[in-house]
Amino acid sequence: MDLKQLPEDRKFQLANLIGQMGKAMQTFFFGLIVLVAIWTISKNVPKPTNYPAMAEVVPNVPWDYKAFENVDFLNPATNEQVAWGRELITETADYLGPNSETPFAGNNLNCTSCHLDGGGKPFAAPFVTVPSQFPQFRGRENKEGTIEERINGCMQRSMNGKPLPLESDEMSAMVAYMEWLSYDKPRGEKVKGNKFLSITYPDRAVDLKHGKDIYVQHCQLCHHEDGQGERKPGSNGYTYPPLWGPDSYNHGAGMHRVLTAAQFIKGNMPLGTTADEPLLTDEEAFDVAGYINSFDRPIKANAEADFPDRTLKPMSTPYGPWSDEFSPEQHKYGPYAEIADFYEVQYGLKKNK
Ligand code: HEC
Ligand code: HEC
Repeated sequence: MDLKQLPEDRKFQLANLIGQMGKAMQTFFFGLIVLVAIWTISKNVPKPTNYPAMAEVVPNVPWDYKAFENVDFLNPATNEQVAWGRELITETADYLGPNSETPFAGNNLNCTSCHLDGGGKPFAAPFVTVPSQFPQFRGRENKEGTIEERINGCMQRSMNGKPLPLESDEMSAMVAYMEWLSYDKPRGEKVKGNKFLSITYPDRAVDLKHGKDIYVQHCQLCHHEDGQGERKPGSNGYTYPPLWGPDSYNHGAGMHRVLTAAQFIKGNMPLGTTADEPLLTDEEAFDVAGYINSFDRPIKANAEADFPDRTLKPMSTPYGPWSDEFSPEQHKYGPYAEIADFYEVQYGLKKNK
C-alpha cells in the first residue's frame, strides 16, 4: 500500500487507526503488567481468605487490612486467627455451644444472633472500636474490667454458659477479630450507632396483650408462635434463634431488660430493619420486648451479687435487690418514669434503661 497514493482523508483515517491500535496495545500491556503484579502480590500475601462475603455483610468495613496498626496481618498465623475469631462469633454454637467439643456456652445462640452481621451492624451493639474502649468501669461488677471479661459477661448471661479462660486461643481470636473490624477507626473513639437506638418509653407499664399482637404480626413468622425459632440444618445453631425457653439467654442477660430489648428490637427487628427506618414505634418495641421477656428462661446463678453498688443497677433489671422500694413487677415491666424520677431526686442519677 502506497501511502502517497491514498487520498488525504483516508490517510488521516489510517493514521488514526494505527494510533488507536497503539493505544489498545498500550492498554493491553499495562493490563498485563497489572495482572502479573496482582498475581505476584496475591501469591505472597497470606491468603486474604475466602472472604468475599465479608464485604457484603459488613459494608462499611472493607477487606483492607493494610492500614491496620495493631495486628500483624502479614503474619499468616494472625490472619488465620482473625478468620477463626469471626467464625467463633458467627458460628458460636458449633464451636462453643453445648453440643460442641468445647462446650463453654450453655445455649445454641451465636454472638451474631444479637451483635448482628458479625458485630458490624450499627445500632446492634457492634464490636467496632470496642476493644480499644477497655479497660472500662463496669457497674455490674463495680470495677474496671477488660475486654476479655466483658466477653465473658455475655458468655455467662447471653450465652448462659461459663467464662472462657482469659488466655485461651478462642478468647484471643475473638478479640483479634474485633480489632480487625476496627482497623480504620480512631482507637478509643465510639462509632455512630455503637450501642442501640434509644427509645422514649411510654409512661405506663408494658401492655402484654398489645405485645402479643405485635409479636404475631411482626415476629412470629421467623421466631415461631412458641418463640423457639428454627434450627439451621447441618449446624448446632439456628436460622431463627429462640427468644425464650431453655435454649435462650438467661435472666441475668442485658436482653432480659425490657428497655434494652426494646432498643435492640426497634433498630433491628424484624430482621432487615435498620435504625434509619425502624418499622416499630417506640411503644410497639416496648410492648413486644415485654412480651418476649414474659416467658420462662434459664436462671443465672448468683445474680443477686450483680451491681454491688445497687444505685448503678439499670432500672429495668428484672431481679433484685434494688436500692428502692419499687416492686419487682414494676422493675420488669414499668412504668419507668417514676423509677427514673426517684433516682434523679434521691441520687442525682439519670437513668435511661
Ligand atoms: C442475647 C443477645 C446477646 C448475645 C447472644 C451476645 N451478646 Fe454481647 N451484648 C448483648 C447486649 C444486650 C450487650 C450490651 C450492649 C449495651 O451496652 O447496651 C452486649 C455487649 C457486649 C459487649 C460490649 C459492647 C460494648 O459496646 O461495650 C461485648 C464485647 C460483647 N457483648 C461480646 C459478645 C460475644 C463475644 C458474644 C458471643 C460469645 C456475645 N456478646 C453474645 C447481647 C448479646
Ligand atoms: C425475617 C425473620 C425475622 C423476623 C420477622 C424477626 N426476627 Fe428477630 N431475629 C431474626 C434472626 C435471623 C435473628 C438472628 C440474627 C442472626 O443470626 O444473624 C434474630 C434475632 C433476634 C433477637 C436476638 C437473639 C435472640 O435469640 O434473642 C431478638 C430479641 C429478636 N430477634 C426479636 C424479634 C422480635 C421482637 C421481632 C418482631 C418485632 C423479630 N425478632 C422479628 C429473624 C427475624
